[in-house]
Amino acid sequence: MAAKKVAQPVVLVTWGLRTPFISLLAILLACLVVAAVYLTGNNGWLLEGLIVSSTSFSSTTTIGSSSGNSGSDHKCNLFVGKWIYDNVSYPLYSERQCSFMSDQVACEKFGRKDLDYQHWRWQPDHCDLPRFNATALLERLRGKRLVYVGDSLNRGQWVSMVCLVESVIQQPKLKSLHFTHNSSLIKFKAKEYNATIEFYWSPLLVESNSDDPLMHRLPDRIVRIQEIEKHARYWTDADILVFNTYLWWKRTYMKTIWGSFEDVEHGIYKEVPMLRSYEMALKTWSDWVEIHVNHTKTKMFFVSMSPTHQTGDEWGKRREENCYSERWPIMKEEYWGRGSNKNMMGIVGDALAKLRDRGVDVKLINITQLSEYRKEAHPSIYRKQWDALTEEQLRNPTTYSDCNHWCLPGLPDVWNELLYAHIFGFS
Ligand SMILES: *[C@@H]1O[C@H](CO)[C@@H](O)[C@H](O)[C@H]1NC(C)=O
Ligand SMILES: *[C@@H]1O[C@H](CO)[C@@H](O)[C@H](O)[C@H]1NC(C)=O
Ligand SMILES: *[C@@H]1O[C@H](CO)[C@@H](O)[C@H](O)[C@H]1NC(C)=O
Ligand SMILES: *[C@@H]1O[C@H](CO)[C@@H](O)[C@H](O)[C@H]1NC(C)=O
Ligand SMILES: *[C@@H]1O[C@H](CO)[C@@H](O)[C@H](O)[C@H]1NC(C)=O
Ligand SMILES: *[C@@H]1O[C@H](CO)[C@@H](O)[C@H](O)[C@H]1NC(C)=O
Repeated sequence: MAAKKVAQPVVLVTWGLRTPFISLLAILLACLVVAAVYLTGNNGWLLEGLIVSSTSFSSTTTIGSSSGNSGSDHKCNLFVGKWIYDNVSYPLYSERQCSFMSDQVACEKFGRKDLDYQHWRWQPDHCDLPRFNATALLERLRGKRLVYVGDSLNRGQWVSMVCLVESVIQQPKLKSLHFTHNSSLIKFKAKEYNATIEFYWSPLLVESNSDDPLMHRLPDRIVRIQEIEKHARYWTDADILVFNTYLWWKRTYMKTIWGSFEDVEHGIYKEVPMLRSYEMALKTWSDWVEIHVNHTKTKMFFVSMSPTHQTGDEWGKRREENCYSERWPIMKEEYWGRGSNKNMMGIVGDALAKLRDRGVDVKLINITQLSEYRKEAHPSIYRKQWDALTEEQLRNPTTYSDCNHWCLPGLPDVWNELLYAHIFGFS
């Protein structure tokens, strides 16, 4: 039993501790850590303290079980668990007090009165999530760049992260936002820490005609399936990378070109079935991160698909209804709706497995199942509307409800707690 636990420091070897003496020391220390976890009985706060003060052990993985079966020696899967209503510890910040809140997700500001969606805690089955400590994260990011790369869901998670950390920086002049590269890149800077938390807009990861962060609502979507460098040059040297790409692929066929966009005018493109094009894009992305990202320096994460709640019959309403007016999560265990495509999930899983075979570790932050339950956590009608609403729409709010994005504070805060747990080596 004990021997199995200590087997974890194998990970340490890949972190560059190679001499036998240091390995021995590592194993001894790991024993201490494991012992400490048992002593603290379950929740691992002490482990957090140890890890924070000792960066080289950030890959220790096992945490004690909280549900009485501490005899089992499986790694705790943070993504399997349940939602607990907790209006004492949540939300982790207030919408109004976050200096960098986005109108796209500020549901309370845009009139939402039922605020229960802010009060849910994610409880993994066999352990607890570590408490989010903004100071500890900023310390960890000192002199570093944390960069989110992807679509508006990933941008929502980035806003959440900025809100989670900015409250511990009291003086306004020590925190700021900067827009660069035609706003493709947005940087939150924490001056005292010389740390940045950034978001880079590239909704399909590879190059596409939707790459303008402001004007991307085009009728015809075209991807340059083998091109990523135009974007990647801005994030390749980051210290932590958090990718996602999903919703923009949801169509039967994707117009795909290998040459430049001008070639489309000459008809050199192909309508490729979506799954195949998704696979090709992830191959382009994988090749890039394998060859160009320094794996010793950079930690990489991929956030799995964010579910939508567009058709109410999935949870017992009429099909024409959606997330509008929902106030409570779905309580059915292992609920899975039509908004999440398991085949696409599989393609991401395969891409990450292939990278792992080639020695490149990109951790999946598997938020899909846990987010499936949260039909009430979308903005629906409570967000900034970019276009004026028609009489027709106003009569029928379902028609303009946003059931893709998520209110803040809310679900994306939990995604970031999961990311935090992984950055600090909890799983
Ligand atoms: C928190 O939730 C409990 C149980 O639902 C409720 O009794 C209590 O009034 C709530 N407290 C606040 C401050 O909303
Ligand atoms: C948060 O982290 C900081 C820096 O590591 C530490 O000093 C502080 O005690 C932590 N706070 C809590 C509540 O754990
Ligand atoms: C600040 O961080 C950047 C990396 O993001 C680094 O290149 C630079 O040297 C740091 N500056 C100082 C003054 O530490
Ligand atoms: C910004 O957009 C303009 C006009 O589309 C373009 O000429 C320029 O190269 C872009 N700059 C960057 C840094 O992408
Ligand atoms: C990769 O990063 C490590 C750690 O920061 C550094 O020591 C090493 O020189 C880097 N390798 C390359 C090829 O830049
Ligand atoms: C993510 O988690 C779900 C539910 O726990 C699981 O069905 C799925 O296979 C996982 N995805 C991957 C790529 O591991």
